[in-house]
Amino acid sequence: MINGSKRIDQPIRWAMVGGGAHSQIGYIHRSAALRDHSFELLAGAFDIDPARGRAFGQQLGVDPDRCYPDYLSLFEQEAQRSDGIQAVSIATPNGTHYAITKAALEAGLHVVCEKPLCFTLEEAESLRALATARSRIVGVTYGYAGHQLIEQARAMIAAGELGQVRMVHMQFAHGFHCAAEEASNPAAKWRTDPRQAGPSYVLGDVGTHPLYLSEVMLPNLKIKRLMCSRQSFVASRAPLEDNAYTLMEYEGGAMGMVWSSAVNAGSMHGQKIRVIGSRASLEWWDEQPNQLRFEVQGQPAQVLERGMNYLHPQALHEDRIGGGHPEGLFEAWSNLYARFALAMDTADRGEPQAPVRYPGIDAGVEGVRWVQRCVESADQDAAWVTY
Ligand SMILES: NC(=O)c1ccc[n+]([C@@H]2O[C@H](COP(=O)([O-])OP(=O)(O)OC[C@H]3O[C@@H](n4cnc5c(N)ncnc54)[C@H](O)[C@@H]3O)[C@@H](O)[C@H]2O)c1
Repeated sequence: MINGSKRIDQPIRWAMVGGGAHSQIGYIHRSAALRDHSFELLAGAFDIDPARGRAFGQQLGVDPDRCYPDYLSLFEQEAQRSDGIQAVSIATPNGTHYAITKAALEAGLHVVCEKPLCFTLEEAESLRALATARSRIVGVTYGYAGHQLIEQARAMIAAGELGQVRMVHMQFAHGFHCAAEEASNPAAKWRTDPRQAGPSYVLGDVGTHPLYLSEVMLPNLKIKRLMCSRQSFVASRAPLEDNAYTLMEYEGGAMGMVWSSAVNAGSMHGQKIRVIGSRASLEWWDEQPNQLRFEVQGQPAQVLERGMNYLHPQALHEDRIGGGHPEGLFEAWSNLYARFALAMDTADRGEPQAPVRYPGIDAGVEGVRWVQRCVESADQDAAWVTY
């Protein structure tokens, strides 16, 4: 149970790159990191516009001398301080992630990077090698993985409660970009520009989220090959897709499917994962994150509720308020940030790895690999490609 008491002696000295005043995702990073004494926000380069970034940093209570015009000055100048930062979170458009993560690791910092970690497997592997060589932690914010019922699903599957897993159906299919929003919305504009978004739009932007949930729930399931078909229903988005279907064959014969979309008219997030076994199925939906459906063939369906004593212990140790009171995305992200902090603190003490699981560099590399393979397949008219 989490009750607000400290889990590390001193909060991690922390900065942000991006996540400025008008960004979509900056606030949840700060909200999650600053909870429960995990991190202390001491510096930043919060915006592509230096003056706007400085003004915003000051509004966040950051010392004006530590509101920097860009990430390189941030890393260089903080390295010269005895109380300089230990970690940085990167919440900028995708096309900047590789260069900023690389520079941060080279400056000896731990990193929390937004997904996708970068654009190519080669870049991803080079970041993994760098992080390993420097013994630095890289967290990737697949934030939904911090929901406690994801742990419940993992424990139930491991205990064999579904029987043999046969199929995994995933989707993250929202409707927010049904029309060409990018004409007037800067956050939609960069997402549909290959120079800033990379080789894909929805595959990387949303599809990788339920894919990571499947990696947590089913750690032994390995993709053998996949095929992908992608479409640009708003034609001006080509070559980037606003809709994609990916079919995956796992080693051992199970099958998986991911529907990634930004044009699912009328849908909010529409992120779901359904794991289907030989005797029962589990289903989790991010818009109802406190419930997990458990359906045993031939019996009435059950709805398992977060915070209840009948859950596996792994699904209860990050509980904050018991069952009945809904917890949400902010708590899920806080859980991940607390795990990042424990891992970073342990690394800085030179102790063996902290006993926490979080989306780290391997998850980042897998996300990049999956997008790359999907694009390879789609560009060969949905041919099967070896994973
Ligand atoms: N994990 C999630 O659930 C989730 C959700 C939304 C977005 N994201 C990811 O977060 C990242 C940011 O997305 P967003 O929707 O907040 O974008 P956004 O366009 O709303 O905000 C981007 C912010 O970064 C700043 N910025 C841009 N370039 C910069 C630079 N070189 N240096 C410093 N600041 C810079 C901008 O000024 C802005 O404040 C993307 O990689 C996106 O994929 C993740």
